[in-house]
Amino acid sequence: MIRAGIKGTGLYIPPFVVTNEDLSKMVDTSDEWITSRTGIKERRILIEGDASDMGTEAALNVLRNSNVKAEEIDMIIVSTLTPDMFTPSCACIVQKNIGAVNASAFDINAACSGFLYALNIAESFIKSKKAKNILIVAVEVLSKIVNWEDRNTCVLFGDGAGAVMVSEESNKGIMSIYTKSYGDKGDSLTCKALGLNNPFVRHKQENIKSFVSMDGKEVFRFATSAMVEAIEKVVQDAELNISDISKVIPHQANYRIIEYASKKLGLDMDKFYINLYKYGNTSCASIPIALHEAVSEGAIKEGDNVVLVGFGGGLTCGATIIRW
Ligand code: COA
Repeated sequence: MIRAGIKGTGLYIPPFVVTNEDLSKMVDTSDEWITSRTGIKERRILIEGDASDMGTEAALNVLRNSNVKAEEIDMIIVSTLTPDMFTPSCACIVQKNIGAVNASAFDINAACSGFLYALNIAESFIKSKKAKNILIVAVEVLSKIVNWEDRNTCVLFGDGAGAVMVSEESNKGIMSIYTKSYGDKGDSLTCKALGLNNPFVRHKQENIKSFVSMDGKEVFRFATSAMVEAIEKVVQDAELNISDISKVIPHQANYRIIEYASKKLGLDMDKFYINLYKYGNTSCASIPIALHEAVSEGAIKEGDNVVLVGFGGGLTCGATIIRW
């Protein structure tokens, strides 16, 4: 049976560090508040360049780690809600930069769950033999859309890029994958796009600012239940038990959300890989960044059952279980 597996991982983390202490000089907050509510100590912010530059670096990193040549890539999917421009897509810019001349390339947006949505698409193409090698890049420059005067949100987010090569496997790879959206709950986490701006509009709209706005408590409630539900679903679909999970790579939004899921599932906290203290919430990039670090540190071994799970704007959620 053909399965889709992850042949290699990669990342790019911008070097500029912003600590909780730095933020406490900009808004009314403190290291104690941020650490106790979220677990985040610092985040990285992109100072020069754009999403495609970080995405290109992460893609080059994957090419080196997966032993796949750029010309052998059939498809490039970039997950982002902060692309360089509306068109060309971030994926087409990455394609040009890495010389993946045989690929079709496009962007998707499922906010923080975007990496899992991209993986779901990639799995379908691999299993139906329409593609052999698919590059997924998940990249965010959230610093562009964060209101740096709003303490409710600016302490939570960071910039970064993670990437994977998805290729054909036989005895390992994705055993089950699940994505789900709750459009009716979308108002609890928003960022407006451009408004109408043409000479025929009678009442000119206010100058719309693209800032993240969030009902933190509502999103927290959703995240905890969605994470548990998504993990239970993929484990059941793979005909496994929760105790069969070797490692969980969760979306890195908040330590307390992960702790809640751990208790609810009866799965020890040491099964969850956590790096949010150093990068904050990098939206869809957080899972592939954490996956790359977990693999590099030897926290994931061959034969492990690895769960990836995420949730975010939309609202959306998703999970997968992969035999490594
Ligand atoms: N520093 C200090 N105080 C802050 C603050 C900050 N950075 N941000 C908010 N506050 C204040 C609020 O103004 C509020 O004050 P008030 O009670 O006087 O109105 C108070 O802290 C709220 O505190 P609390 O109820 O303890 O917050 P919380 O436990 O709900 O934690 C979040 C807030 C945002 C950390 C939490 O709701 C959360 O993590 N939600 C999920 C967010 C998320 O992960 N989003 C992305 C999903 S992909």
